[in-house]
Amino acid sequence: MKRFVKNILIGAALLLAGCSSEPQTGTDRKVEELLGQMTLREKVGQMNQLSGGAWLAETAAKGEVGSILNCVDPAEINAVQRAAVEESRLGIPILVSRDVIHGFRTIFPIPIGQAATFDPAIVEKGARIAAVEATASGVKWTFSPMLDIARDPRWGRVAEGAGEDPYLDVQMGVAMVKGYQGDDLNDPTSMAACIKHFVGYGAAEGGRDYNSTMISERSLRNTYFPAFKATAEAGAATLMTSFNEIDGIPSTGNRWLLKNILRDEWGWDGMVVTDWNSAGEMIAHGFSRDLKHTAEQAINAGVDMDMMSYGFIQYVEELVKEGKVSEKEIDRAVRNILKLKFDLGLFENPYVDETASAKVDYAPEHLEAAKQCALESAILLKNSNDVLPLDKAKTILVTGPLADAPYEQMGTWAFDGQQEHTVTPLEALREEYNVIWEPGLAYSRDRNTKDFAKVRSAASRADAAVVIVGEEAILSGEAHSLSNLDLQGAQSELIAEVAKAGKPVVVVVMAGRPLTIERDLENCDAMLYSFHPGTMGGPAIADLIKGKAVPSGKLPMTFLRDAGQAPFYYNHNNSGRPCNGTETLLNDIPIAAGQTSLGCTSYYLDTGYGPLFPFGYGLSYTTFKYGNPVLDKAEYGRSDVITVSFELKNTGDREGTEVAQLYVQDLVGSVVRPVKELKGFQRVTLAPGETRTVTFDLPVAELAFWNIDMEHVVEPGDFKLWVAGDSASGEPVGFAVL
Ligand code: NOJ
Repeated sequence: MKRFVKNILIGAALLLAGCSSEPQTGTDRKVEELLGQMTLREKVGQMNQLSGGAWLAETAAKGEVGSILNCVDPAEINAVQRAAVEESRLGIPILVSRDVIHGFRTIFPIPIGQAATFDPAIVEKGARIAAVEATASGVKWTFSPMLDIARDPRWGRVAEGAGEDPYLDVQMGVAMVKGYQGDDLNDPTSMAACIKHFVGYGAAEGGRDYNSTMISERSLRNTYFPAFKATAEAGAATLMTSFNEIDGIPSTGNRWLLKNILRDEWGWDGMVVTDWNSAGEMIAHGFSRDLKHTAEQAINAGVDMDMMSYGFIQYVEELVKEGKVSEKEIDRAVRNILKLKFDLGLFENPYVDETASAKVDYAPEHLEAAKQCALESAILLKNSNDVLPLDKAKTILVTGPLADAPYEQMGTWAFDGQQEHTVTPLEALREEYNVIWEPGLAYSRDRNTKDFAKVRSAASRADAAVVIVGEEAILSGEAHSLSNLDLQGAQSELIAEVAKAGKPVVVVVMAGRPLTIERDLENCDAMLYSFHPGTMGGPAIADLIKGKAVPSGKLPMTFLRDAGQAPFYYNHNNSGRPCNGTETLLNDIPIAAGQTSLGCTSYYLDTGYGPLFPFGYGLSYTTFKYGNPVLDKAEYGRSDVITVSFELKNTGDREGTEVAQLYVQDLVGSVVRPVKELKGFQRVTLAPGETRTVTFDLPVAELAFWNIDMEHVVEPGDFKLWVAGDSASGEPVGFAVL
C-alpha cells in the first residue's frame, strides 16, 4: 500500500514535469523528478554500495544504501529490496551486484581461456547465459568484463582478462558486454556490465598485484584505453576504477581519467563505481589525508558510487556544507545511478521470482555452450608423431592433481559455481577408455612423491598416459601473483616419472596463467593447455583426447621460457638493437671473454631472444598452409579499405578449424611503432584437403595511432602485412598509405 501511494506521488510529479518547459524526455525526466525530491542524505545513500544480504534491510529502509554486492540468495535479496521499496521514504530500489566473471552457476572457462577461442560469438553466448542465470537469482549488475591488458603472467589476474593484445581485448570485451546486457537493459534477463579496472591495473610493476604503474599518456591511449573506449561505445552501463596509481595518481582520484577522458573526450554517460575500498586505499597510497579527504577527491574526480570505503556515507554531508564538494557533483553521481536503475527496469520490477533460478541454472543448453567454449579454448602446444588423438588406445592411465578436482577446474572468481555440477576429465575419460586412476599427487602444490612408483607401474600397464596438472584455483586471481611460474609441487617430477614407462604421455595443463612449462614439454609427447576450463572442462578435454573434437585454441598471451623474461609481449616496440638472429648464449661465451665480444643486441644470455611460444600460437590435429596474401592495391588513401585475400588449405586428413590472423607493422612513425599489431582474425573450418580463399577487409583508419602531437592519426608511409597462424610466422607483403 505504502509503495502504491509512493508510486502515485512519483507519477503525479512526473505528470507535472511533463507540463514544464524543460526539454526532458522519458528516463531523464523521471530521474530529474526523483532527484528533485531527494534530501542530501538520500542522495548520498544512493552513492553507497555495501557488501551483504538481508541484514542490510534496515539500512535500505533508511535509504542509506544504493547497491549491495555479494548476496545471491533470492529471498535475502527480496528482503532488502522490500525494505528499500516499501519502507524507505522514496522507495528507490536497490541495485544488486556480483562478480559474475565467467559464468554464474554454469562456469565457462576463465576469461583468458575464453580469449584463447578467438571466437567472440561463443564468448557473447557465455555472457548471455551468465546473465540469464544470475538475473534469475536477482543479480542485475556484474563486475565484468575485466579489460586490463596483461603482459606479465606473474600477475595473478591475467586469468580474468583477454591477455596482452589490445585488438583481442576489444573483441572479447565487446562480446561480453553485449552478452550480459542483451539488446535492452530493461529485459528481465539483462544484467549491467562493468568495464574494469580503469585503468592500467594489469601493468603492475613486476606483476605484483595492486602495485604502481608507470604508463605514458601515449601508451594509455594506444594500448590500455582501446578496450574501454570500444566497450563504452558498445553501451557498457558502468565502469570500475582501478586500485593502482599511474604516475602518482590513484585512478579513483584521477580527474583526468574520469572526467576529461571518459566524459569529455569519449562522451560516455554511464555510472562509475570504485573498486572495493579503492577510495579508502588512497590513504595508504599517501594521496589522501584521511577517509573524509578520500571522499572529496573521489567524488570531485568523477566517481559516482563508493564500493565499501564508507567514506561517502560518512562525510559527504559535511563536505558539501564546507563547500569542498558541490551539490552539482552529487547530483551528477545520483543521476547516473538513478538512470541505471530506471534503465534496468528496477522501478517496475524490483523483486526476483524466488523459484526462477531452479528453472535455468545448469540448463542443458548452458552446459552445451560451456563445453563448446572449453573445446575451442584448449590450445595444443605439442603433438609429436601425432600421438593425439588417442583414438586407438583402450586402456589409459589417468594421473595428476587436476584430473579429478571439480572445484579447482572452475578457476578463480567462480563464487556461485557448484562443484557437484563440474564434470572432471577423469569422469569423462572413463566414458571413453578403460581407465587406471592413480592421482599421484593430492593437489598442485603437493611435494609428496610416495605414490610415484605406483603411478609408473600403472603407466607401464596402460596403452598411454594422460597427466593432468596445473594450478589450484587459488593460485591465480586477485592477490595471487607468483615470481616462479614452473608447475608447483612435484608435478614436473610426476610427468617425468610417467615418461619413464615409455608409453605415449599426454599432458593437460589446467591453470590460471601461462606457466613456464619448457621442461615438462620435453617429458611428454603431447600437451594441451586448457587454462581452468570450467564446469564442462572434463567432457571437452575427453573429446579432444579421443579425437571427437579437434583443438583450435590459440595463445592469447606469449608463453615464456622463464619467468625472468616477463614482461614479454609480441607487439613491443623495437629497441635500437633488435635481435639480429645471432644470439650468443651463456655457454657459448669463452672464459675471460672480452667485454665487447657479444652481439650487443637486446636479449637474455640465458633464455635468448624468443619466448617459448608466441602470441597466437596453437596446433591442430591437422595442418594448414597459408598462401601469400594478395592486396587489392599497392597504395591506399586514408579513407580506403584494404582488402587482403589469401588461400588457406587444410593439408591434413581431418577437418579442423584455424584461427587465421592478420598483423600489420607501420614501419616508420613520428613515434616508434610496435613490431607487429593484430588487426583481424577469423576462425576458418576446412574439410581435409579443402582450400578456401579467406578475405580480410581492413579500413586504413584502423592503422591510426596517437602520434608525436598526441593526435589520433594514420601517418602516411610504408607498412608490412602478414597473414599467419601465429604472431611469429608468415612472410610479409608491403603496402603504402599516401
Ligand atoms: C575487488 C576486485 O578488484 C574487483 O575486480 C571486484 O569486482 C571487486 N573486488 C568486488 O568484488
